[in-house]
Amino acid sequence: MREGKGPEVALSKRQRQCLDIMGIPVWSLRTPPAPRAAGISRAGTVSDPRPALPAEGGPDGEAGAVSTLGWEALEARVAACTLCELHRTRTRTVFGVGNRSAEWMIIGEAPGADEDRQGEPFVGRAGQLLNEMLLAVGLKREAVYIANILKCRPPSNRDPRPEEVASCEPYLQRQVSLVAPRLILAVGRVAAQNLLKTDTPIGAMRGRQYHYGEARIPVVVTYHPAYLLRSPREKRKAWEDLKFAMQVYEARQKACRKACRETQGEGT
Ligand code: URA
Repeated sequence: MREGKGPEVALSKRQRQCLDIMGIPVWSLRTPPAPRAAGISRAGTVSDPRPALPAEGGPDGEAGAVSTLGWEALEARVAACTLCELHRTRTRTVFGVGNRSAEWMIIGEAPGADEDRQGEPFVGRAGQLLNEMLLAVGLKREAVYIANILKCRPPSNRDPRPEEVASCEPYLQRQVSLVAPRLILAVGRVAAQNLLKTDTPIGAMRGRQYHYGEARIPVVVTYHPAYLLRSPREKRKAWEDLKFAMQVYEARQKACRKACRETQGEGT
């Protein structure tokens, strides 16, 4: 169930709470923002402590423009991107793939050799395992949307550098806001830490619900399938994570339905 944007109306506190549960941001006149610290609440949620956008010309000057692009223009922008050094060594950019109205979005680290050749995320052995992991919770690859923190392959699959992540971030932010998923599954340490702006080890991030962006989309973290190929005994933990992700998703769906009913009740 997806609601379109309605006319601007005065909302009661309760209606605002309902919209908040549903992850629908309510826009209001801007006041100077209070500085926000990143932190995990007792409920295990984090605020989104993304840095303020710098002046035009840098990667986030780009964000001003990127944040309004539609799918085709966004994909073309990524294909032509030269914001970081990775454009010199890539074969192809790897934009993202799948259902653009997906309820689940999967976010990985960066393209590997296979992805760099084919221009599609998670097509190698790790991708095969990711497909199997999704199927284990009843999701076909085509039903979800898959993207990475970086759109270009780092040479020799080294970890992404902070400036590369910063350059690519507006693209992923725009993809998330266009898909507007109900749940984000971050696969692997690099994806989880960069998405949630934390250096918490992945083992400590598992089994908690985090939130991403203004829409406070629930985020669940699990191991990267490439790690699971190297450490198959950890697959049991990944299975626990996927079950937890499904619980988070279903709880959110239930809260949305309840909030919708109550909001409709208030309006009558
Ligand atoms: N690993 C990732 O994180 N992403 C890919 O697309 C492929 C491998």
